[in-house]
Amino acid sequence: MCGIFGYVGRPANVGGMVLGALKRLEYRGYDSWGVAARENGHVAVRKQTGKIGGATVDLPAAAIGFGHTRWATHGGVTDANAHPHLDCTGRLALIHNGIIENFRPLRDELLARGHQFRSDTDSEVMVHLIEEGVASGKSLADATRAAFARLQGLNAIIAMDVTRNELVAVKTISPLVLGLGEGANYVASDSLALTEYTRDVVYLEDNQVAIIRPDEVTLLDLYSGQPLPLKRERVDWDAGDAGLGEYPDFMSKEMAEQGRVVRQIATGYAERARALADLIWGSYGTFLVGCGTASYAALTGMYLFSRIARRHVNAVLGSEFKYQEHFLTDRSLALALSQSGETADIIEAMVTSRGRGATIGALVNVRGSTLDRMADFSVPLGAGPEQCVLSTKAYTAKLAVLTLTAHTLAGTPEIGRELLLRAADELDRFLAGGGAARVRAVAERIAGAEHLYAIGRGLSYPTALEAALKIKEVSYVHAEGFAGGELKHGVIALLTEGTPCLVFAPNDETRDDILSGAMEMKSRGGLMIGVSPQDDPVFDIHLPVADVGDASPIVNALPAQLLGYHLARLRGYDPDKPRNLAKSVTVK
Ligand code: F6R
Repeated sequence: MCGIFGYVGRPANVGGMVLGALKRLEYRGYDSWGVAARENGHVAVRKQTGKIGGATVDLPAAAIGFGHTRWATHGGVTDANAHPHLDCTGRLALIHNGIIENFRPLRDELLARGHQFRSDTDSEVMVHLIEEGVASGKSLADATRAAFARLQGLNAIIAMDVTRNELVAVKTISPLVLGLGEGANYVASDSLALTEYTRDVVYLEDNQVAIIRPDEVTLLDLYSGQPLPLKRERVDWDAGDAGLGEYPDFMSKEMAEQGRVVRQIATGYAERARALADLIWGSYGTFLVGCGTASYAALTGMYLFSRIARRHVNAVLGSEFKYQEHFLTDRSLALALSQSGETADIIEAMVTSRGRGATIGALVNVRGSTLDRMADFSVPLGAGPEQCVLSTKAYTAKLAVLTLTAHTLAGTPEIGRELLLRAADELDRFLAGGGAARVRAVAERIAGAEHLYAIGRGLSYPTALEAALKIKEVSYVHAEGFAGGELKHGVIALLTEGTPCLVFAPNDETRDDILSGAMEMKSRGGLMIGVSPQDDPVFDIHLPVADVGDASPIVNALPAQLLGYHLARLRGYDPDKPRNLAKSVTVK
């Protein structure tokens, strides 16, 4: 959450540069934004609420500047609460991602010593703490070290001293990446903002302090102040992947990329699937851990391993994992499923697992992310940058890796490969062959609906949960997913005349039962929309998809994604940036 970008180098149009980088990071938070640069020896700040859109900033050319896009935690969405925050003298500025859990006593202490606060944020305490250190003669780095050591919580901060042309960055868990350029250096919360300037990066580790100057970057240990070596890495993904190309928005682009991503996993992941299958085979208890959409991939994995490999694995929500840690031993495998690799709840689950001696695995999309780096074994999803706040291609990529791994564990990797290839073809066919137009027509018919229900059984139960999440988070139509068998235990009370109901009915052992559940909903007035290889009299609308066996969750995801997308568009919402959400959930 919160996007961060900073520059120190030759005098440049810092305002334009920072704003450009913030646009690339805006998926991390878009409540408000702000930019700061040096102006006549002081910090000049421009900040405002709302998305960046076509905004420009009038800041003078400067050799140092930084900016921030906010996802509010403490303090409402106001101009004053937008970052950067200044100290009392106007010489220091600060941007922050995370939550300072002990900000109240720190703020009271600082107020008692006469500091002036201009915002309601937790972040502002940090700049005043640094101000005191600098006033007592400490360097910016030492003042930042001392202040940061007083914070509780998971935080990343960057402090700027305009009189010294110097940025100081430090973090625990929340990500920061340093970019090493020629006569200029950079820092950002995501390498996506850096590749325009450099592909040489250093992933800042926890409790490392970076001093960033135009011609050098130095690392210090937070506690001892001792210098640390810089570990340079190269960002290897293609910058072209990050653009919109011919698409109107990232959600359309990323949905369309799913065929290619699944095909790539089908053809190129045999060894990774083998290694992951061996780990699962050797473990005494495997836990698939995810949040939101990734948790539905984990739940699908539970069904896949059961039916394909006759192996029980557990699916656990990241935020609930610590309450189940008692099962973990040094023979357990905790497998984190995460697009960003930065989700705080999953990181916490992995820290808990490590504490119990478990092996940590990861299926992550963002290379170099915290989970990618902390895992003993990490499988990159290879889906390319996912910039729409809704997860689409990273979800189907996780399903593809889990399907292939389950078949590999069962000794049938070729079957897994074939199913994935068929699923990849079906994803492309559905988009190109009229499926998308059919879904749009459904969206037009139900655009005024207040509620929508989705049902599935077995492998399709998590698909129903994911379908409902996708639809509600982007279109704001209230949507709920249910296990088909649960209807009669209460849910059916919600049905009224004309309520749209999505029914996932693949050609598997769930078909007869789910169709009979659909009949019960139809009898109570539901408008039945069937996602299924075959039509059935119970469906008022049929969205045909190919029969791809165990890979059905992959192809069934697409009609639901498209339905959410078109509902959002028809109702006038931006599919890439739904309200109140952020892509990378780095706070608990
Ligand atoms: C929904 C969505 C979220 C994420 C969740 C986990 O479309 O994107 O539910 O799936 O926040 O994020 P990652 O996968 O980055 O750990």
